Amino acid sequence: MKRIISLTVVLLLCLCLVSCSHETETEANTSPVVVGFSQLGAESSWRIANTESMETAAKEAGFGLMMENANQKQEKQIDAIRSFIAYQVDVIVFSPIVENGWDNVLNEAKSAKIPVIIMDRMIKTDDESLYTAYVGADFYAEGRRAGEYLIRKADAMNAEHLNIIEISGTIDSTPMRDRQKGFMETISVDPRFTIIDSMSGDFLRSKGEECAAELLEKHGKNSIDVIYAHNDAMMLGTLDVLEREGIVPGKDIILITVDGEKEAVDALKAGKINCVVQCTPNLGESVMVLVQKIISGNDVPKIYHPEESMFTEFDDVTDPAVEGF
Ligand code: AHR
Repeated sequence: MKRIISLTVVLLLCLCLVSCSHETETEANTSPVVVGFSQLGAESSWRIANTESMETAAKEAGFGLMMENANQKQEKQIDAIRSFIAYQVDVIVFSPIVENGWDNVLNEAKSAKIPVIIMDRMIKTDDESLYTAYVGADFYAEGRRAGEYLIRKADAMNAEHLNIIEISGTIDSTPMRDRQKGFMETISVDPRFTIIDSMSGDFLRSKGEECAAELLEKHGKNSIDVIYAHNDAMMLGTLDVLEREGIVPGKDIILITVDGEKEAVDALKAGKINCVVQCTPNLGESVMVLVQKIISGNDVPKIYHPEESMFTEFDDVTDPAVEGF
């Protein structure tokens, strides 16, 4: 009798072991891919739309998204990436607030064998093996488009000379550097243009408003022909100042902006902004396609730029394609 009981116990133990190991196997097979995502902040409608795009795309792909918002602080982004490494996420995605200072933490991710996708803004590094892929706009091309529009506008007005004020984005960030470089290189071959001042509004509407007020006071409205803002948020802040000061936006001063959010495109349609260079925030789907490929062991392109264009006063703005996000 004793033997029968102990045999039954062994059998039950075996059964349990089999079913337990089976469960672990099933769990491992079905456990979702986890993406650690460090977003740099919530400074503009662009950023908010970008975060939504990442959340929606992760959900549609069936991936878990562990997101941390760094509120414009690089240290917070570095902490978030370290926490994703500790958690052993499958892929890390991050949008770097500035270009420099990432090598150490990315070396840690590399040692932990966690692939990294850089999204939206770029980093400066001598070691390209620190990231698997980059998905984001060609900011230099955006700056060039802004310059090309201005040359066309100057031709249309028969302008002899135009003074330009630049309200730039966050210092040391890729969109700031490249939108400036693309614009300057395009207009610098034409002697009709002078950039008389440049100030950083940090991509924020409130700071854009402050910059516009300060620059207007410093130079006087009659010395400013053009304002080029590196994003819509800062341009919308500028619009508030101009309207307060009784300056007719889009007529007294030519306004050029980048992004393409609804409020800015509506201002273009109303004749208050002259040119909106597009920068799409909808990068989530492309990122998740890359995540899937990376975890399946497929090769991915190192750099992916979405297709972008611009809307200007020379277009038929009643065309339904002229639409903001
Ligand atoms: O990095 C993209 C830029 O960041 C967008 O142009 C701007 O609106 C955002 O804050």
